[in-house]
Amino acid sequence: MSFAELWRELEPLGRDPGTGGYRRYSWTAADAQCRAWFTRHAERLGLAVEPDNNGNLWAWWGNARENAIVTGSHLDSVPDGGGYDGALGVASALAAVEILKDKNFYPERALALALFTEEEGARFRVPCLGSRLMTGAIDPETARGLTGDDGVTLAAAMAAAGADASLLGPREDLLESMAAFVELHVEQGRGLAPMGAALGLAEGIWPHGRWRLVFSGRADHAGTARFADRNDPMLPYASTVLAARRVAAEHGALATFGKVIAEPGGANGVSSAVIAWLDARAPDEEALADTVAEVRSAAEFSCAEHGVALSVRPESYTPVVRFDQGLRDWIAGVLEAAGVKAPVLPTGAGHDAGVLAARLPTAMLFVRNPTGVSHSPAELADLADCEAGVRALALILEDLAR
Ligand code: GLV
Ligand code: MN
Ligand code: MN
Repeated sequence: MSFAELWRELEPLGRDPGTGGYRRYSWTAADAQCRAWFTRHAERLGLAVEPDNNGNLWAWWGNARENAIVTGSHLDSVPDGGGYDGALGVASALAAVEILKDKNFYPERALALALFTEEEGARFRVPCLGSRLMTGAIDPETARGLTGDDGVTLAAAMAAAGADASLLGPREDLLESMAAFVELHVEQGRGLAPMGAALGLAEGIWPHGRWRLVFSGRADHAGTARFADRNDPMLPYASTVLAARRVAAEHGALATFGKVIAEPGGANGVSSAVIAWLDARAPDEEALADTVAEVRSAAEFSCAEHGVALSVRPESYTPVVRFDQGLRDWIAGVLEAAGVKAPVLPTGAGHDAGVLAARLPTAMLFVRNPTGVSHSPAELADLADCEAGVRALALILEDLAR
């Protein structure tokens, strides 16, 4: 099957008909459909699909489990996410293997495709959960207790989907069997379009994290409580949103409140609490730490003004990532020999490749996004660019696995 045919099959899975966005949350029915799609096509190509006890799937070409070249990405999405984030890397991996099979290539080294779970952290709030678990970057007991907005723990969600969370934990054997990981991903940002390049290579990932802020005030009547008598948590929350924007800009960083819950949520009442998530990212760890500290000070100052209590809890942190320069240069050479120029770009987006980079040589190949929009139904990549990405990935795998 061609990339376009694979893509047509994957496209409707987990897409909301109203918004056109994807709601592929881990361990849900949509997630099961995506896993089944991956498994069906990997098996059609003769690959052996094996779960790793952490929710990730591995599809192996051949029997060897050493010195492997691995590619892949994720199929879960943010709320109303775009179709390409993660999915493009998974579909491209399958299509690249198909190209190699069609030309009767057989890898001298083991070759595997990886499908990572909960990369976005949209359900259980810790991004790259599958790769963190397999590398030991998160304690399995902590992971089992992670709880989504529906109050369901990861352990319960896995059990409901027929998986056993008691088996979660690092897979040193799997890590030791991998020689390199290459993830193809849609570009998130608009760096390639002005350069006229369909493909790019990742230099590194900005350090980033998520912080949960709880502003606790006192519920009251919107029509009778005098301003002077209120402890309204919405006010310090609102000023913290503005402070985050100002502070981040001063540090060359990015700070976003993309999720907020007002409790109890009555339109005619002062809230008892506002729970909000700060996503902050910066070019270096010092700028990130300063940004978060200054946002926190601004929140504390405003809370004191309004008689509101504040708690701040980090939910995830990813240090700065620099992808392996030797692997990147090697890949650039392979592409250049085929007449493909792939400029090197940094990114502020997190990836499983970034987690794996702490353990083995890792690289990322970006496919041009003409508008730069991502984490949105408007996310886009042209079919011709996707196909160029698949051909490039096939060349890279062929070269690395020969
Ligand atoms: C994942 O896409 C992230 O950067 O949050
Ligand atoms: Mn992604
Ligand atoms: Mn994403």
